[in-house]
Amino acid sequence: MASESQISFFTLNTAAKIPSVGLGTWQAAEGLVGNAVAAAIKIGYRHIDCARDYGNEKEIGSVLKQLFEEGVVKREDLWITSKLWCSDHAPEDVPAALDRTLEDLQLDYLDLYLIHWPVRLKHGSTDLAPENFVAPDIPSTWKAMEELYDSGKARAIGVSNLSTKKLEDLLEVARITPAVNQVECHPGWQQNKLHEFCESKGIHLSGYSPLGSRGTTWLKGGDILENPILKEIAEELGKTPAQVALRWGLQKGHSILPKSTSESRIKENFDIFDWSIPEDMFAKFSEFEQD
Ligand code: A2P
Repeated sequence: MASESQISFFTLNTAAKIPSVGLGTWQAAEGLVGNAVAAAIKIGYRHIDCARDYGNEKEIGSVLKQLFEEGVVKREDLWITSKLWCSDHAPEDVPAALDRTLEDLQLDYLDLYLIHWPVRLKHGSTDLAPENFVAPDIPSTWKAMEELYDSGKARAIGVSNLSTKKLEDLLEVARITPAVNQVECHPGWQQNKLHEFCESKGIHLSGYSPLGSRGTTWLKGGDILENPILKEIAEELGKTPAQVALRWGLQKGHSILPKSTSESRIKENFDIFDWSIPEDMFAKFSEFEQD
């Protein structure tokens, strides 16, 4: 457990430093996401987690351009992640997919490019209908990702939603070890085994939905922010349950990607650096029901 107060970044196997808290943009609606990104950067966020599939990279790109022009932040001080969508897995489609994302984001490189899912869809298909699925060939997609890394357009490459087994298979053929595996991770789904495996291979685990995918229905344990253990710890520390859930992620050694389009919650979610969860309270997280 890392308990030092400031955990502002983690060092990847590329030697780059990934800011520990990134703004998630999944389900951040058009018309709202731009304001959320601007608010986050003004508050101090230096990491924005994007994806082609979220359908909002153009709006994020316009806002980034404006912030650079206004001198609010410099490109080199930001960490921008995006993800290759499942219908672009064919090796010949991978470079064009990155170029499209770069064009939408109005950037000339990404800090991190991830294979979004180990699932492949027919080129051009957008929905997850059964007839659109084709067998994935992660080794060939990964080889194309490695070429993007060589080109400098993606300064780090990684994967998302890979199990230990799938990572093991990939490591057997990879020339470049993924820098990151981004997976759902929060107190209700702690991913301990996967975390240990990633750590042993020098792969950083980045946690999406660190507040427990609020509003989704697939978690057995329900809304984690209502969990009595979390609420009790939050009360004792004088913090909100959301802040404690996020701080737990940092102390576990994960970067975390809380999504919000509300300025006050974006601020709340960043106010997690100058305090920590003491060891005895941290130990109580092992009692959380796991999905
Ligand atoms: P909103 O965008 O209205 O703030 P996750 O990142 O785990 O997927 O969680 C995202 C969800 O949690 C969104 O519905 C978001 O809503 C909500 N959320 C974000 N920050 C907080 C917070 N500090 N407290 C409560 N809910 C939050």
